[in-house]
Order: sequence, then C-alpha cells, then structure tokens
Amino acid sequence: MRTTDMRVLRVALLGCGVVGSQVYRLLTEQSADLCARAGATLEVVGVAVRDPARPRLVQVDAGLFTTAAEALVTRPDVDIVIELIGGIEPARTLLLAALGAGKSVVTANKELLAADRAELHRAARQHGGDLYYEAAVAGAIPLLRPLRESLAGDEVRRVLGIVNGTTNFVLDQMDSSGADFGEALARAKQLGYAEADPTADIEGHDAAAKAAILASIAFHTEVTTRDVYAEGISAITPADIENARSLGSVVKLLAICERCNGGISARVHPAMIPRVHPLAAVRDAYNAVFVEAEAAGRLMFYGAGAGGQPTASAVLGDIVAVARNRLAGLRGPDASTYAELPLVPIGDALTRYYVQLDVVDRPGVLAPVADAFAQQGVSIKAVRQEGRGEDANLVIITHTAREAALAKTVANLSAMPAVRAVDSVLRVEGEEGE
Ligand code: NDP
Ligand code: HSE
Repeated sequence: MRTTDMRVLRVALLGCGVVGSQVYRLLTEQSADLCARAGATLEVVGVAVRDPARPRLVQVDAGLFTTAAEALVTRPDVDIVIELIGGIEPARTLLLAALGAGKSVVTANKELLAADRAELHRAARQHGGDLYYEAAVAGAIPLLRPLRESLAGDEVRRVLGIVNGTTNFVLDQMDSSGADFGEALARAKQLGYAEADPTADIEGHDAAAKAAILASIAFHTEVTTRDVYAEGISAITPADIENARSLGSVVKLLAICERCNGGISARVHPAMIPRVHPLAAVRDAYNAVFVEAEAAGRLMFYGAGAGGQPTASAVLGDIVAVARNRLAGLRGPDASTYAELPLVPIGDALTRYYVQLDVVDRPGVLAPVADAFAQQGVSIKAVRQEGRGEDANLVIITHTAREAALAKTVANLSAMPAVRAVDSVLRVEGEEGE
C-alpha cells in the first residue's frame, strides 16, 4: 500500500450520534486505506456535539469535542465538513457558513436537502465547494450517484421504492405475524428500528423528503417536500393486510416519482403490490428502489436503508469523492434542474384502486354501485362479492384512474343508501396484469 503522500485534508465532523460516531470510527480505523484511496490523509480536527460529556458509541479523542460548531466549520484549515446533526436548524446555517467559506460538504440530512437543496447547491457553486449527500436517501444503497451519473444519458420514467425502513418493518410484521399496527410499531421500537417519536416515519414525512430528493435528481427538476403528497401507514388495519393477501398482494409504503401528463407526480402512500413484484420481497427494515429508464429498462437497488454503520459507508464514499475532487482542483456534478417540469397535483395522479364496501345484500344493489364508478369515468377491472347474511362484502378493483375521479366515486358511494360503509380504499401499484 502506498502511504507516502503527505497531503492532508482536514475534516470537521458535526454530530457524533448513531451515524457520526461510525463515520468517526471508520475515518480513524481505516485512515491508511482512505489515504491511499483519496490521495491525502483525512484528519479529523474537530467534532461538534451538543453535550461533549455524553457517553459515545465509539472511542473519540476527548480533545476534539466542541460545542462551537459555527467556529469549527469556518476554521481556515478545514477542507471538508461532514454534517450528521440532522433537522433544519442549526444544520442549514452551519452548512451555508461552511459552503460560504469554500469548504466541501458531505451530509446525510434528507430533511434539510428536501427543503433547501437549491440554496445549498447555489452556495457550493458560488464558493467552489462540493455538496454530496448519498446517505440522505436509502442509507447504504448507492442510488443517488447512479441516478445522477450512470443514468445521466438516459430518460428516467419512474422511481418506485421502499425508502423507509421503520414502516417497512411494521408492515412486514403485520403481514408475517398478523400483528396490528400498534403491536408491530411497539416491536419496531423494542428492536431499535423506530425512534421514540416515530411520527416522521409513520406519517410518511421521512419518505416524502427522500422522494423529493429522488425526483429532483431523476427528472432534472427542483422538487421539495412541499411538492410531495404524503400519506402514512397508521390507518392500515389487519383487514387491509388480509385483503391484500387474498388478492395475492402485500401492502407496502411506497415513494413514487414518475412522469405523468408532461409533468412529475411525486407521492408517498401505502399501496398493494402483487407478491410477485420485486418490491414485495423486501422484508424487515430493508429498502429497495426500482428505477425504470427509457434505454436501461428496469433496475433494482436493494440494501440497508438505515443504521449507523451502513449509513456511514455511504458517507465515507462521499468523503473520498470530495477529497479526490479537492485534490484535483475540481468540483463534482452540480444540481441539474434544467428540465423544470411542472408538478402534477395528487388529484391528477394515475393509479389503480382497491375499494372494499359493506353493502346491503338485495337485488339491484350492484348496478348503482357499478354506475357510481362509471359516472366518474373509472373503469372496473374486477368485482368480488361475498354474502354475509343481510350484508355483502364487495371488493372492486379498478383499472388505472385519476385520483380525483376515484375520490369523487368514493364520496358518492358513501352517500348511497345501499352502501353501509366504505371499509377500505387502497391504491394498487405494479403494472396491470402483474
Ligand atoms: P443522532 O440523533 O444519533 O445524532 C445527532 C448528533 O448531532 C448528536 O451527536 C448530537 O450531539 C449532535 N447535535 C444535535 N444538535 C446539535 C447542535 N445544535 N450542535 C452540535 N451538535 C448537535 O442522529 P443520527 O446519527 O441518527 O442522524 C444523523 C443524520 O443522518 C440525520 O440527518 C439523519 O436523518 C441521517 N440519517 C440517519 C440514519 C440512521 O440510521 N440513523 C440513516 C440515514 C440518514 P449530542 O450527541 O451531544 O446530543
Ligand atoms: N427513519 C429512517 C427509516 C432512517 O426508518 O428508514 C433512515 O433515513
């Protein structure tokens, strides 16, 4: 191994929690290899935290800790700033200060990127630094770089993925053990998958931030979290899981970014997918993303979407990349937003639906129910009815329809005297016929 290169790049680490501690460990334990790969020694010169006295997951030189994060990121000798604090502030102010001072930045902060990616890229461009964030979406899985670089010559049509491990674990538990939502979430907390406050995961906000970043890169258009429709999994019942099973399907929380009517539809919601679909086989807290591109066809990316070590792997990859760029006097690819595609509102999104109704079981009920779909231009693909005494359980699967047309259909069905209740409405993804 050649370690004679005496060049040194100085690194400031912001945050030493789940991910930051593993990044520090890898930077120190693998320093010789990293030096050989990056072309310079990567020397950690400071670690900003809230409470330097707090016990750490790994051994850190106590003299490196500081609470003066702003002073650390603007230190003249610092070359690379790694942000692993999370959240909007103070991360945003610190990264703008670092980029303004010409530093290169590596971050895993999807929340900040999904809100302010454009401004951060502008600051990097103006002051000659890099901004890399592979770990922000799907943890260890190399995904943003393939989308940004390997597929730069192709036209991405669709990105469909499981990008939140906590919700995938919960839904997988409900599917495999029959647990209800509360029991499955409690198990996720016990095993350390879900945070004490799991709202951002459960309500789809975490996946929506990741969808915004994916859509921005895939479609060369600035997309923020505000542009992404998000619906979580807290309303999913064991009955939904069982109904999906009876149709040969499974329920997953999906992030879907696709070209639609000349624009982009970006949304996060639970959906039924056929058990034969590759995403249906993604178990536990794993992530997987399915990319469909014009020339490349279908690509699948799979792996650990969270956890200290897996996420640190992606962060280290970025650190080596920005180090190489800095030594070569180059910058990595900038944000590409030239396409400026319009965002399609959720009402215009196109998908298929599963609708389950509790109806009065008497002659002439099916015809007005079918008519309620026809009036909104929603075509029915399949109907299944099961009598239960005076009532019947009616399941209707539609062909592809506009979300707004389906919503109006459901509102009209709810108002029909023969419909006792609309028990469940779930979107159905995966190609027709799969
Ligand atoms: P943690 O909560 O474990 O760690 C956060 C760290 O930031 C702590 O060391 C904390 O200090 C420090 N910190 C918080 N506020 C400040 C502040 N004002 N000034 C200085 N330091 C501060 O977070 P994670 O490691 O889990 O996540 C870090 C980032 O990585 C987030 O953006 C997250 O979304 C992202 N990410 C995390 C994944 C995961 O599996 N955990 C997966 C993919 C991405 P102290 O320790 O003293 O409290
Ligand atoms: N809370 C996230 C998840 C961590 O469950 O996937 C990774 O961003």
